[in-house]
Amino acid sequence: MNEIIEQIKDNEPCRILPYEQTYKTRTKVNVLKMIQDPTKITKIVGPMVRYSKSSFRDTCAHFDCDIIYTPMILAREFIRNDMARISEFSTNLENTKNKGLIVQLGVNNKEDLIRTIELLKDYCDAFGINSGCPIKQQNDEMIGAQLIYNPEGLIDMVRAVKAKYKEEVQLEVKIRIHDNWDQTVELCKGLHDANVDWITIHGRGKTTRSSQPCNFEAIKYIRSKLPMDLPIVANGDCFDLNDVEKIANRCGVQGVMAVRGMLDNPAMFSGYSYTPWKAIELIVHYSIEYGLHFALLQHHLHCMLGNSSPKPTSAILKKLMDTNIKSTFDIIDYLDTYFDLKRYGESGFAERDEVPYIVAEATNFKLEVSNQ
Ligand SMILES: Cc1cc2nc3c(=O)[nH]c(=O)nc-3n(C[C@H](O)[C@H](O)[C@H](O)COP(=O)(O)O)c2cc1C
Repeated sequence: MNEIIEQIKDNEPCRILPYEQTYKTRTKVNVLKMIQDPTKITKIVGPMVRYSKSSFRDTCAHFDCDIIYTPMILAREFIRNDMARISEFSTNLENTKNKGLIVQLGVNNKEDLIRTIELLKDYCDAFGINSGCPIKQQNDEMIGAQLIYNPEGLIDMVRAVKAKYKEEVQLEVKIRIHDNWDQTVELCKGLHDANVDWITIHGRGKTTRSSQPCNFEAIKYIRSKLPMDLPIVANGDCFDLNDVEKIANRCGVQGVMAVRGMLDNPAMFSGYSYTPWKAIELIVHYSIEYGLHFALLQHHLHCMLGNSSPKPTSAILKKLMDTNIKSTFDIIDYLDTYFDLKRYGESGFAERDEVPYIVAEATNFKLEVSNQ
């Protein structure tokens, strides 16, 4: 049995948490220890609202990465309502097995933060506070990037969690930079005093668009002004494995987080310069197994196929986003029309790298189409 089948075979369906059926808890991974390891750069799959669901996380976990985030979960909603819990977080005991699983929270007060941590702490390895989200509605409520302009509030939340749980709960904060970098340094020092476990710095300001380059000089400056026992992760513009080392060296950090690069290519940290077909079969498998909404699977496949090799023509990619695609069944039909999509359990499942076309016109590259 190949390694991938071996890895999938023990998976239970993704259970909804917190849920009485999930009486078992996760075997914890010590994420902080990973980030503190000076002998290697920690490779981190950062948070994406909508997309970092369990099927995407488990797909990434087949490749070389150390830590994987959930999307930002709004703490206030999560504690308020069963349906919010069902839609916002699902996992199983195997989810991101042997990798660190971090739940990221959108939160503006310590009461909501602690109540959410209490509900989820047995099912993940650490928590993160989102202090980088630039969306106005969240910022108006002092959630996300606005928190970097409310250092007392942010530090107070960290202090409350670390005072209550100490080592039992590892807590990260993901921030953006201020125009005046020394303000970011001050904020990080305050968080360090409050016992934050590590800080992720996205090298853009609150209003910097992602089309602008990440400011690695800022991350380097901030890192250099902070005590070395405070681990710093650099985030921004990491699009392949070479970038990991370049960014780590340039900023003097031990951890690098990639986000848009991972959406396009969940195998990127394994050194793939394009999305291997096996990642596509895996995400289709997990999406069906765990019940991902078809529109999210459609978006994942569009990003991944658009970055695959040999790449489909734009006409074929467009067909994936066509209004005729109304369900997961339609997506599977689409895939079966143009590609040799293997199912879990079928020989050859999740083994191939190049896109296995069955319709030669689906790519501009010359192919030998052998499996028609
Ligand atoms: C689709 C999408 C969703 C995102 N959702 C979150 C989120 O939930 N929490 C967060 O802290 N940042 C979020 N971000 C920002 C990323 O985590 C990251 O900081 C940013 O994309 C820069 O990294 P990159 O250059 O590797 O993409 C999101 C970004 C994208 C593209």
